Amino acid sequence: MRVLSGIQPTGELHVGNYFGALVPQLELQRGNEAFYFIADYHSMTSLRDPAERRRLTHGVALDYLACGLDPARATLYRQSDFPEVTELAWILSTLTPMGLLERAHAYKDKIAQGLSADHGLFAYPVLQAADILIANPDAVPVGQDQKQHVEMARDIAARFNHVYGELFKLPEPLIREEVAVVPGTDGRKMSKSYGNVIPMFAAQREVKKAVMGIVTDSTPVEEPKKWELPLFQLWSLFADAAERAAMRARAEAGGLGYGDAKKDLLARVLAHFEPLRARREDWARRPDDVEDVLAEGVRRARAIGAPLLAEARRLCGLGRG
Ligand code: ADP
Ligand code: TRP
Repeated sequence: MRVLSGIQPTGELHVGNYFGALVPQLELQRGNEAFYFIADYHSMTSLRDPAERRRLTHGVALDYLACGLDPARATLYRQSDFPEVTELAWILSTLTPMGLLERAHAYKDKIAQGLSADHGLFAYPVLQAADILIANPDAVPVGQDQKQHVEMARDIAARFNHVYGELFKLPEPLIREEVAVVPGTDGRKMSKSYGNVIPMFAAQREVKKAVMGIVTDSTPVEEPKKWELPLFQLWSLFADAAERAAMRARAEAGGLGYGDAKKDLLARVLAHFEPLRARREDWARRPDDVEDVLAEGVRRARAIGAPLLAEARRLCGLGRG
């Protein structure tokens, strides 16, 4: 099948992005036709610093490559190199009911956080629908928080097909339940906007500070611990099934100190990301090679997207026909 997903360049990626987005996406590069992109147009709804956008965009490309994106198997591109996307977004916006956008959780959350609303933020899901539909994928691997956006893309696609004729497949959100919501150090969803992240590639002392700061409760060492605590949920992400069962038994038996569990988690986090960090540094030394990957990626993406847009234009009665 064909899969497509994207990540916004709005901050350094964290363990939630890794398990919720990167790992499930990259597992799909084997045996599928995989398209991944860096959503730099989307980042404009929350980030206004051009140099920072360039740096973070390059950073997300490095993150994908560090985490194992294989340019021979998967296609990686920068959204803003693919102008057909914004034209399709206009076409789709004329088919998107206001009520649909007003119900978008991401928009409502950002307004609640005090972000001032502009048209781009409100129309964000239309651009996302265009990102998705331009490649006609079967499935969109995302974390739980993006499910509604993928459903909106389906709704918008169905409206296009109904009004102008059958063109778009209705893509399915693909959500891995076990990592749908990775908790942050304070127990809420890990998110850069909550400042509760364990960063993937930050300096060791920063990773240590985040892990040591994970909230626990005041259960004394000798008492049984609750396995549902964010500390154990996070620890479990870095362990296999047998290790998890053993740790759970230790936690529930009493006698396990939170400090020891945190130290063990820190060692696992650092060991897990070490080879990825080395690969990231290797790509970081070769920025032209990264640009070559993105250039080849957008070439492949446009080879699919341009004819699809041409067909959409024809169906809509745009241009000479
Ligand atoms: P953030 O919430 O930190 O701003 P984004 O919204 O940029 O993260 O998310 C990028 C991708 O990572 C999305 O596919 C999203 O579903 C996934 N993701 C983000 N945070 C988590 C989390 N805590 N658990 C699982 N997936 C997550
Ligand atoms: N909105 C997504 C996020 O915040 C990023 C994104 C933009 C995306 N376009 C997409 C994800 C298309 C999947 C498909 O994480």
